[in-house]
Amino acid sequence: MCGIVGFTGNRPCPNILVDSLKKLEYRGYDSAGIAFFDKGHIRTVKTKGKISEGLVPLLKSQNLLSDTENAPVCGIGHTRWATHGEPSDINSHPIGNGRVCAVHNGIIENYREIKEFLINSGYTFESQTDTETVVKLLDFHYKGDPLEAITKTISEIEGAYALGILFKDFPDTIFAVKKESPLIIGKGDGENFIASDVTAIMEYTKDYYIAEHNEIAVVTPQNIKFIDIYGRDIQKELKTVDWDVSAAQKGGYAHFMLKEIFDQPAALKNAMNPSIKNGIPDFSEIGLTFEKMSNYKNLFIIGCGSAMHSGVVGKYLIESLARVSVTVDIASEWRYRDPLITNEDLCIVISQSGETADTLAALKLAKERGADTLAVVNVVGSTIARTADMVLYSNAGPEISVCSTKGYAVQVCAMYMLAFFIALVRGQITKEYCEKLTSELTSIPAQIGEILKSLEDFQFAASNIMNAESLLYIGRGLDYALSMEGSLKLKEISYIHSESYAAGELKHGTISLITADTPVIAVATQSYLLEKTVSNIKEVKARGAKVIIIAQSGVDIDESAYDVRIDVPAKDDIMMPLLTNIPLQLIAYYTAVLRGNDVDMPRNLAKSVTVE
Ligand code: F6R
Repeated sequence: MCGIVGFTGNRPCPNILVDSLKKLEYRGYDSAGIAFFDKGHIRTVKTKGKISEGLVPLLKSQNLLSDTENAPVCGIGHTRWATHGEPSDINSHPIGNGRVCAVHNGIIENYREIKEFLINSGYTFESQTDTETVVKLLDFHYKGDPLEAITKTISEIEGAYALGILFKDFPDTIFAVKKESPLIIGKGDGENFIASDVTAIMEYTKDYYIAEHNEIAVVTPQNIKFIDIYGRDIQKELKTVDWDVSAAQKGGYAHFMLKEIFDQPAALKNAMNPSIKNGIPDFSEIGLTFEKMSNYKNLFIIGCGSAMHSGVVGKYLIESLARVSVTVDIASEWRYRDPLITNEDLCIVISQSGETADTLAALKLAKERGADTLAVVNVVGSTIARTADMVLYSNAGPEISVCSTKGYAVQVCAMYMLAFFIALVRGQITKEYCEKLTSELTSIPAQIGEILKSLEDFQFAASNIMNAESLLYIGRGLDYALSMEGSLKLKEISYIHSESYAAGELKHGTISLITADTPVIAVATQSYLLEKTVSNIKEVKARGAKVIIIAQSGVDIDESAYDVRIDVPAKDDIMMPLLTNIPLQLIAYYTAVLRGNDVDMPRNLAKSVTVE
């Protein structure tokens, strides 16, 4: 998981590398470093900790962030999420030995064998990283021709990698190669870049190439050349990112998470626009025709974390509207249990980043079994997007905060559109009813805008739970699906333990956890289940729990059942999730802020989980 960057041009590179790395910190922030050519040598500056706390002060102390006349102009950088070896200065990247230096995103599976071979060949090792074995193997094979060294090295290493490499003898050139891990090459004017993803370099250029497996990129200020492992030139299509640069900046908000919560009305409109034609969902442009959809026997929805939670909402919607049974599962479980999927089925994988290793593996498995695959993905051109048979882009724009907010909302929106479409295809709803549902969906962004006008209720609710050690989220039906996501948001950024529980299941064991110190957040927006949910809420209230209830505005609920009530605009039960989601996100956000946590970069996490 980790992010890599590189720059070669005629401008001082340390600032550019640091700025680009900051955009990739969502991929990991245990340590960071850069390496660059300095008076004929490769110089490395790296340290443990987040970029602004570790690397930037270190570079400043060495006067490397001021644009002096002889400032370095070619270098590589890395931000790390530790896999092999603890977060420490020595395990930070770049890793080099004077002749060769590299940054690496991925995992080298056979590093032990290679290390043993290299030790027997006289090499010594300083770090605990798998990357050091690659650097030393490159050095072993380097006899003056970098391409030969890289080709030999990649034929011997197994696993996943995106590598940015400097060779001492080529002071204006970055070599880059990838397998599995993402890598793009940015094309500027007299300067070029490498990066793990396009957000890192968007400020400098919007033109980029996507590197494919085992293509070697040779990047100089004037030229970008791609070569295959046989030394043949490869012609690549130049792509242009159409995201606005400001979309990847905080724009006056205290945190990316808050900005991304406020981005949701616009993001949802962008998610809907391309797929709604003549008032109803239409996926023919991405290849999901009426006829195709009517032929699938079973539906599977697979993802991880919040993406999987959006799949749970999808299951409830599709089953209730289209009357088709849906299997929804966590990718890391599904892929290893020999799933019952065949060539008659459709597998929908959901991923914001489009790079999640388990989701990608699940997708590949579904394809191997002959199923059709549809990826609901945010990041354009990502590996999952390129692997699936059909892609429904969720169009949220860049999501920087590690904690997914708008990324989740647009996934849920995709679930709605698919559910309406499948219900129509299966003849379970009329075209008129489909139009009505679609119109309801398109009215939601404006209602979210209304909720976001006043934040006091969420701040007050957060102040009620900020000192709790543990809490529960409960709900029934779609409210249960939402409580899973609310609970994940809270624990992810506030570090308060929380669990989501189906309200009716509490009394089968979990209710024993309830004390006066265990607040309960009760999601109670489903009118047809309200009576039952309120009974469950009273059960926890009777055992001393402080209850925060989220309900449809105007709905009468016995005041003795709760301590704090948060209203969301009233709508048909089935349309509530995207509205209910907003208080859940904001309660988590303000709780983390009140506890003084690093909201955008919570401990131990990384946004793009490219390891199993
Ligand atoms: C939670 C969160 C994670 C991701 C999960 C899947 O806030 O962000 O649970 O949802 O890691 O990531 P993607 O959607 O990129 O596959």
